[in-house]
Amino acid sequence: MTAIKDILALKEERQATILAHNYQIPEVQDVADLVGDSLELSRAAARLDTEVIIFCGVDFMAETAAILSPQKKVVLPEKGAWCPMAHMITPDQLRDLKALHPKAAVVCYVNSTAEIKAESDVCCTSANGVQVVNSLSENEVIFVPDRNLAAYVARFTDKKVISWNGYCYVHDHLTAEQVKAARAEHPRAEVLVHPECRPEVIDEADFTYSTAGMGRHAKASAAREFIIGTEEGMIYRLKKENPDKEFYPLTTNAVCQNMKKTDLVKVLRALQTLEPQVTVSEEIAARARRSIERMLAVKI
Ligand code: 13P
Ligand code: SF4
Repeated sequence: MTAIKDILALKEERQATILAHNYQIPEVQDVADLVGDSLELSRAAARLDTEVIIFCGVDFMAETAAILSPQKKVVLPEKGAWCPMAHMITPDQLRDLKALHPKAAVVCYVNSTAEIKAESDVCCTSANGVQVVNSLSENEVIFVPDRNLAAYVARFTDKKVISWNGYCYVHDHLTAEQVKAARAEHPRAEVLVHPECRPEVIDEADFTYSTAGMGRHAKASAAREFIIGTEEGMIYRLKKENPDKEFYPLTTNAVCQNMKKTDLVKVLRALQTLEPQVTVSEEIAARARRSIERMLAVKI
């Protein structure tokens, strides 16, 4: 309780904004100024006019904010909160792939390091991957690092999509059998899954959305029950916004360990010390910024 009071008071004093991803623990979501998906949080980071951003999420999200707003202090309350998928491709590996496909445009999922964004033509999130790929003039696209999002995007484009073998361990573990079993248990529920899921899981689902897309769908749908195929943090937000509807996780072990490392004590410490700060060298940031800004210019 005191932590919440102290966080809110210090947030004012520091002129800070707290951004939180939809997978953060409930207490952290509740103290945030904005809770959202990767696209919403990137847009917010680009337009915010506060001096300090406390980014409750994982490394690539804070890096993206630091790239877009180099004049701001971007603080990641837990230094060790990182996304394993973002580190599944190195800049050298991407350069080798580009050499093999010199005519291809390079699209990187926002779940990637600043160096990978700097090596790419444009960035995308799970909310706009299809629109970003279709906005390009090239007929071939290298899509890194997520093989599942690449396969999902490939369903909605005539372009040749050359993917990398990265994946999110949380979503890649979800199975089509789990969808069938959940449907049998809740026959009236709609099944919403994330595009980081395997193709066979997407085939079994009713809808595929980024986490923000799931939120919008749940509000607008006439259905009263939903089976949710993404990280479990999303269920809290869905229930909070739709208290009269039921949300069932596809499985109880879809947990991103790194998203859960941030708690109120760490948020308070981050506000007190403005550490650990996330910075990106201007040489990398300038090139990465072009990829992110090009993404932000794509209308969806
Ligand atoms: P979105 O919230 O953008 O759908 O991203 C999901 C995710 O796995 C972020 O790490
Ligand atoms: Fe990375 Fe998956 Fe965790 Fe998102 S949920 S941060 S993609 S490991």
